[in-house]
Amino acid sequence: MTAPEPPVESIRLRPALDALPAYVAGRPAPTGGPRRWKISSNESPFPPLPEVREAVREAVENGHRYPDMGSAALREAIAADHGVDPSRICPSTGAVAVTGDLIRALVSEGDEVVYAWRSFEAYPILVGSHGGRAVPVPLTAGYEHDLEAMAVAVTERTRLVILCTPNNPTGPSLSTGQIEDFLARVPEHVVVALDEAYREFHDPATVADTGAILARHGNVVLLRTFSKMQGIAGLRVGYAVAHPRLAAALHQVTLPFGASAPAQAAALATFRPEVRARLDEQAAWVRGERERVQAALAAQGWQLPPSQGNFVYFPLGEDSPAFLAHAEEHGVVLRGYGTDGVRATIAEAEASDLLLQAAASWLAR
Ligand SMILES: Cc1ncc(COP(=O)(O)O)c(C=O)c1O
Repeated sequence: MTAPEPPVESIRLRPALDALPAYVAGRPAPTGGPRRWKISSNESPFPPLPEVREAVREAVENGHRYPDMGSAALREAIAADHGVDPSRICPSTGAVAVTGDLIRALVSEGDEVVYAWRSFEAYPILVGSHGGRAVPVPLTAGYEHDLEAMAVAVTERTRLVILCTPNNPTGPSLSTGQIEDFLARVPEHVVVALDEAYREFHDPATVADTGAILARHGNVVLLRTFSKMQGIAGLRVGYAVAHPRLAAALHQVTLPFGASAPAQAAALATFRPEVRARLDEQAAWVRGERERVQAALAAQGWQLPPSQGNFVYFPLGEDSPAFLAHAEEHGVVLRGYGTDGVRATIAEAEASDLLLQAAASWLAR
């Protein structure tokens, strides 16, 4: 039976939708033909640990029940990790949803949100779809946040600044001093969100002390995810650590039951000491693998931005689409950003080896 034609309709969509860029997810590896590795979405190469899978299985047994709307047990575990009161932890369906909550809590029609560009591609979509005005500030020639220009871009209408550290997709991170200097230039009523989705992959010796920054500034909020180092991207859970008044506002606007029961259970299981220890080992392995890839690329003659994430960025400009196709011929599916550059996730060692072969043959072509 064929489906009936839908009726003629004349609904009025928000004109703002016409201006929204589409979110481009990392392409999956094609099926059929020789094996290709998907290193296009900054995912963990490690599947969830057995304890995490078991927690999900148990949660599914009660799948006919709504989850704990307040995510109480998970918030307590996260709060203990950060040394703050659980009321200040605001989880939802991934950090991307929490970023949307922040915008809904802060931004009225026409208010401005400042962020670096290129950065996480969800920012312009989230800002535009909530009625805000996006103010993207170009990265420096070294693919870092241009904090000077970002401070200048803050106006009377700015409600939120997002700093992504390490920056997706380019890789450089911000130091404690850089963030503090920036905060000194931003009015205290403007919220500054530190998006630390990739924090666990940063060299621990030099990672910014964002906990201390949060403790010193009433306008700072941290954004974190369980999608990357904890490896449960498919289950969807992330959170903010906010000061009490902003946290209360985030609780007000967030999607009810945003964190599903399996997602809460999985995230909670990652705090079990034996699970945490193995996740820390996995993060250390990714850091080591990144260093191996960076050193090999440098030896080939590449000059890439210094990444502290689980990815490296090839700023190839006009050549980006051709490099993307070339890499795929060598067995690795990367993430292209138009004619800006190409990002490769640090994941399985076999995939990194193919990436290195592709990069070498690109230079030799
Ligand atoms: C900088 C940044 N923030 C947030 C996210 C989203 O995280 P989640 O999967 O928790 O929504 C990503 C995911 O790629 C990211 O790159």
